Amino acid sequence: MTRAGGAVGFPPDAPEAEVRALAEATAAEVRAGCLHLLALHRPGPDGAAELVGTVFLQPGRGPVVAHRATVIRLMVLPDLQGRGLGGRLLAAAVDRAAELGLAQLILSARGGTGLPAWYAARSWTEVGRFPGALRLAPDDVRDEHWFQLGVQDRRESVGPSR
Ligand SMILES: CC(C)(COP(=O)(O)OP(=O)(O)OC[C@H]1O[C@@H](n2cnc3c(N)ncnc32)[C@H](O)[C@@H]1OP(=O)(O)O)[C@@H](O)C(=O)NCCC(=O)NCCS
Repeated sequence: MTRAGGAVGFPPDAPEAEVRALAEATAAEVRAGCLHLLALHRPGPDGAAELVGTVFLQPGRGPVVAHRATVIRLMVLPDLQGRGLGGRLLAAAVDRAAELGLAQLILSARGGTGLPAWYAARSWTEVGRFPGALRLAPDDVRDEHWFQLGVQDRRESVGPSR
């Protein structure tokens, strides 16, 4: 995903071992109940389910932030992007947040990509940005855009507002 241009925390040339280590740590956090995983599957050639997309909810830790969660690692297989699956995953994450009794969601998106516009089109509010907070390479520094969504507004987040 990161090699295909995905903005999920790594530069495009990140060593596979680093990505694998984070994947394993993430799986451990899901098993421990610290992260909620929403996954999208399709039937694979051998009949087994093939993973085609993920999104995670990371609830705030501690009483002051327990009412919110951070949406992380929304990803769809590159050859299936642009068919609405990412939007469905994001909407499912908002629904899960409602089921968990959360009041708000936050997320960050990499500047210099179409992602900030993608979230803005799905009713997320850009609340600010950290200039130059992401250094993909010494000569490739991006702003980090922060978004927020009230979970009670979730119906509006299902599809792009055009
Ligand atoms: C972001 C992502 C999850 C969106 O999933 P998707 O299934 O392609 O999105 P959808 O099909 O629901 O939405 C398609 C729309 O978003 C646009 N879009 C999709 N990815 C985009 C991107 N990276 N930048 C800008 N626009 C994008 C499409 O052009 C399309 O526009 P339209 O609705 O005007 O036709 C997917 O592109 C992805 O996995 N990217 C790599 C990982 C990543 O960067 N995740 C974001 C972490 S903040």
